[in-house]
Amino acid sequence: MARNFFIGGNFKLNGSKDSIKEIVGRLNDAQLDPNAEVVLCPPAPYLGYTVDLSKKPQVSVGAQNAYVKASGAFTGENSVDQVKDVGGKWVIIGHSERRQYFKEDDQLIAEKTAFAVGQGVGVILCIGETLEEKKAGTTLQVVEKQLEAVLQKVNDWSKVVVAYEPVWAIGTGLAATADDAQNIHHSIREFLAKKLGEKAASEIRILYGGSANGKNASSFKGKADVDGFLVGGASLKPEFVDIINSRL
Ligand code: G3P
Repeated sequence: MARNFFIGGNFKLNGSKDSIKEIVGRLNDAQLDPNAEVVLCPPAPYLGYTVDLSKKPQVSVGAQNAYVKASGAFTGENSVDQVKDVGGKWVIIGHSERRQYFKEDDQLIAEKTAFAVGQGVGVILCIGETLEEKKAGTTLQVVEKQLEAVLQKVNDWSKVVVAYEPVWAIGTGLAATADDAQNIHHSIREFLAKKLGEKAASEIRILYGGSANGKNASSFKGKADVDGFLVGGASLKPEFVDIINSRL
């Protein structure tokens, strides 16, 4: 089954009105691969602003996090209903920086994913192992455990995109090789097939994230289970267009 190429831009805690205007303007002006689906994830205060600036139908906007409630006394949180209200269509859940700095565990991530999917928002679900876990040879056990928690709470994965982001590759300049990413993505898909059936698993997009950039993106072209990228640092730069067009 053909899966549309998907490129997420995770701005993390970066950006200003001026810089976001520049980034979105660049995408508005560029010739983008018509088969690429692009999702820009700015910091929450700029969600509506980014939606308003964006002119291309293939580009949508998502939040970097959202809570398990639609509203209420939860100071400092974002809700998926509010993300939708300002025109957002996606939310990143389970990013390793949320797991590491904000102590989000598999359980909370599973609940957030289930809630977001239930509200009709697409989820970019991040999983990945640390350097210690990689060295210990436990990569697959780690990602399967992370997925298993979500599988317990979510039956319909049609709105979920999985982002395999090895923690050791994030922001380090040391991306996984395309072959290594392909092997792990393939194992992730096999695991999902065991749990959800072949058809559902064949339709889930699995992205690679971790130091993807304008130079290395094209090396992933042709890797059967790499369906796109979740891009951090390079999504803020002109090379983001090269990543989006890396399959051309
Ligand atoms: O979510 C994207 C990410 O964590 C990768 O970041 O800066 O290594 O592309 P970066």
